[in-house]
Amino acid sequence: MILYWDSSPGSIENYRFALGSQAMSLDSASLTFRALHENAAADHLVIGPGVSLESAMGLAEEIRVERPDVGVLLIRQRLDVTTLSQALRVGVREVVAADDQSALVEALRRSRDLSARMAGVSPGGASFGKVITVFSAKGGVGKTTLATNVAALLAKAGRRTLLVDLDLAFGDVAISLHLAPTRTVSEARAMTGHLDLEGLESLVTRHDPSGLDVLCAPQDPGDADRLPPTLVAEILRVARGSFDYIIVDTPPSFTEHVLAAVDVSDLLILIATLDIPAVKNLRVALDTLDALGSPKESRIIVLNRSDAKVGLNPDDVVGAIHSPISVQIPGSIAVPAAVNRGVSLALEEPRHPVSVALADLADREIRVRFGEDLTTAPARRRGLFRSRT
Ligand SMILES: Nc1ncnc2c1ncn2[C@@H]1O[C@H](COP(=O)(O)OP(=O)(O)OP(=O)(O)O)[C@@H](O)[C@H]1O
Ligand SMILES: [Mg+2]
Repeated sequence: MILYWDSSPGSIENYRFALGSQAMSLDSASLTFRALHENAAADHLVIGPGVSLESAMGLAEEIRVERPDVGVLLIRQRLDVTTLSQALRVGVREVVAADDQSALVEALRRSRDLSARMAGVSPGGASFGKVITVFSAKGGVGKTTLATNVAALLAKAGRRTLLVDLDLAFGDVAISLHLAPTRTVSEARAMTGHLDLEGLESLVTRHDPSGLDVLCAPQDPGDADRLPPTLVAEILRVARGSFDYIIVDTPPSFTEHVLAAVDVSDLLILIATLDIPAVKNLRVALDTLDALGSPKESRIIVLNRSDAKVGLNPDDVVGAIHSPISVQIPGSIAVPAAVNRGVSLALEEPRHPVSVALADLADREIRVRFGEDLTTAPARRRGLFRSRT
């Protein structure tokens, strides 16, 4: 989100095209500082031409200390060397001329890219956003149910979350969340090799009830084969720079696209159900992952429809796969009913036993695992993991 500070706040209208309809206008340094302090989603400040250079420099210097993640841009009536050198000294990222709207658009794009890179790569080279892939080698076990609900819960909790539908031929994330995407992962193909955050953001569809961003599967199933697997790695790398969590829903087989996601995943959620084929397929999937060198500690097993009375019980599954079950999700008719209504059960009926299990999974196995302290006030919406490096 962009904040705009100018002595005449109405001047924001001159820059609406570059700043977007969501940008918020403020008319004093103290209000701007407070807005930045209270609003963790504010990631850019544009200082208008009506603010004196001295005041602008003063606030920019404070922001550099208090909110170094915020990109500060300065608009000036005239560009001269003194202004530029002073601005750079206090950490202003770009100075643009007041009458050059396209320069402002470009400066914001560069600044967003820089923010993404800063957020995405720690000094040690590790990424911030966590990639969590939901997988099962058997169809219909609940991957999409789990992925959509957990992603919606994370987004609703204020975490910047992207759900990627990697079931490229038959993905039903969009329909499950009642989305009507105008653009999908298909359009990312043209950006292969030079995808940036702006490009990625232009392809996502917002799930309004939760604030979740969704990269939907192609409308044309034939597009699946036309998308290079390297694009998956590229999408996830770019997404990590900006999102706290990236949840990946998958088809029921180790496609090359799935392998590309598995390769960069911080956590794999493998789903089992109480039937012999599902357990056998899970055993095979675990062996395959071992052979691929995927670390055991970054996998968990979730048992879906765990209360089904079908002759097998959860202990039988643990015995067969030699791995513990982290979360058990009961079966309920409410799950398909929610899908048919296009709503997330976990958001609509948080006290339903299925929702409680999904929330437990989101909290314990994702948020706490990745360093969130759920006992304190909500963490900042972006750059959640920044303080841990
Ligand atoms: N806990 C549950 N209780 C009852 N029904 C469930 C439960 N979990 C999932 N379902 C239902 O089972 C069906 C398959 O679920 P889902 O689409 O999530 O599976 P999937 O693994 O994504 O399938 P696919 O491999 O085809 O993508 C859906 O109709 C869903 O509503
Ligand atoms: Mg599915």
